[in-house]
Amino acid sequence: MRDPDDVPWHELRAMAREATRRAYAPYSRVLVGAAALTTTGTFVVGSNVENASYGLTLCAECSLVSDLVRQGGGRLVALAVVAGDGEPLAPCGRCRQVLYEHAGASLLIDTGDQSPATTLGALLPHAFGPDDLPTRSTP
Ligand code: THU
Repeated sequence: MRDPDDVPWHELRAMAREATRRAYAPYSRVLVGAAALTTTGTFVVGSNVENASYGLTLCAECSLVSDLVRQGGGRLVALAVVAGDGEPLAPCGRCRQVLYEHAGASLLIDTGDQSPATTLGALLPHAFGPDDLPTRSTP
């Protein structure tokens, strides 16, 4: 795991806040922006994209994972997610699973200036992931 003190949290938060300005959230009015650092030192971002068929909404983290794959892949190291008020927002359950695929348990997740970063492993303990498929599939 990377040392949380080495993560440019302020930069990540600023990028996540900027991404809230590109959110499409006319139904909930909850504007969400996400920004992450990758293992190759690049940054990826995402914004939530709602839909008139509410259940089809894409969270900001899903949008960020799309950005990661589109820019050539890699693994996520550290993540900041904020709402329109600029404050950290906890990834929803589905997004925790989506993020796990591209980061694993060691992903550092911002909880704001006043508390230490948490990890995806803490937010999604005993996760099911890609490693489970070969060992649990029936021949
Ligand atoms: N939302 C996210 O973008 N990420 C989360 O982890 C939690 C929820 C969005 C989805 C929807 O557009 C709005 O917040 C309200 O649920």
